[in-house]
Amino acid sequence: MALTVQAVRGMNDLLPADTARWQQVEQVLRETVASFGYSEVRMPLLEKTNLFSRAIGEVTDVVEKEMYTFEDRSGESLSLRPEGTAGCVRACLEHNLIYNQEQRLWYMGPMFRHERPQKGRYRQFHQLGVEVFGLNGPDIDAEIILLSHALWQRFGIADQLSLQLNTLGSNAERLKYRESLVKYLEQHFADLDEDSKRRTYTNPLRVLDSKDEKTAEILKESPKLTDFLGAESRAHFDGLCDLLSKCGVSFELNSRLVRGLDYYNLTVFEWVTDALGAQGTVCGGGRYDGLVEQLGGAPTPAVGFGLGLERLVLLLSALDKLKDRRLADIYLMGAGEGAAVAQAQLALKLRKDLPHAKIMNHCGGGNFKKQFRRADKLQARAAVVLGESEIKNGTLTIKDLQNQEGLQQTLPYGQALDLLKAMLQA
Ligand code: HAM
Repeated sequence: MALTVQAVRGMNDLLPADTARWQQVEQVLRETVASFGYSEVRMPLLEKTNLFSRAIGEVTDVVEKEMYTFEDRSGESLSLRPEGTAGCVRACLEHNLIYNQEQRLWYMGPMFRHERPQKGRYRQFHQLGVEVFGLNGPDIDAEIILLSHALWQRFGIADQLSLQLNTLGSNAERLKYRESLVKYLEQHFADLDEDSKRRTYTNPLRVLDSKDEKTAEILKESPKLTDFLGAESRAHFDGLCDLLSKCGVSFELNSRLVRGLDYYNLTVFEWVTDALGAQGTVCGGGRYDGLVEQLGGAPTPAVGFGLGLERLVLLLSALDKLKDRRLADIYLMGAGEGAAVAQAQLALKLRKDLPHAKIMNHCGGGNFKKQFRRADKLQARAAVVLGESEIKNGTLTIKDLQNQEGLQQTLPYGQALDLLKAMLQA
């Protein structure tokens, strides 16, 4: 029969084999952010549309053409969150978390952008986001970059990712640069690609990001933002570069790195890999000192990053860094008179005595051959067998399923439990 309803394009199901991988990844992410003293926040997936247009910028791709926006039943325009920074700032302001206080926060969850789906690019994707409020020095910029670097190290992929770094200067510096860039682009206007022509007047810094070869050639001679930086911006960037070098993180200066969201100033960075094809940016972020004020709060320095979980999982899988999860540690089986009750009761007892083990009780009857086949399919570590004699004698038969010899022992409960504990630890 034809399946009539399918998932929305670009929105993926995660099946048991996937969730096994995702859970390993999420655990490392959670442990690492906790080890840096960051606290979790959870925001709604839906926000008022004007939060995103104000925060991200009216003329960004995200706001212009990628948001899932609709009117709810009371006629209010809402959008599925395309990213987490705007909602995080909104939540902090609403609950007064950042007035005269530092906060180091993180969140993890789905984001939604109506982009053209391809490998590494989806319409529902997941991010780990890290946001810090109330600190303005290069030391905290370095800290969040070191945090992301610690993640790559814990996953064993630090050699696969390179750090691209740039500074966008202050708003005033960027404005001056913008004028000079527009003048330059106008001189070469006829040779620019169509997107860059449009962006020259809507969002000229984004032209720097163009993938078009001819435009890229023209940009080689374009004015550079670094020539427009004042002493303060320069000192901030030099301070960051110095800290990173001294902490063993190498980076590449990329004067064309501008990021796709409008709220950034000073530091911007991306971690990129060659191993994923076109969608090679695994993590990106930077400083956004103007956003809190722009959304109605007191001026508050801020810095953060977003890490794409799909891309991280793809990269880890490509490098074979994730383990397949065993679906059952212990497979409990039985046959004969009273087996169903004895199995159910034993399962309860074992789960109490081995709270961290995955204990699966065979249901549905059948002979032992069939039950052992099921246990093998699950790659269980051990089988616990309750036959008629075990039920009668109050013993258990333990079979080692991972050992070629297939060691099998019939023991009273206490000894059987010790054996199982030893097997699960090995
Ligand atoms: P972003 O660069 O738009 O930044 O997204 C961060 C990361 O999310 C990207 O580097 C990528 O790994 C992943 N990502 C983005 N779009 C997709 C997609 N369509 N499919 C799969 N993965 C995707 C932000 O969102 C900022 N809020 C980051 C930030 C936090 N800046 C400061 N604080």
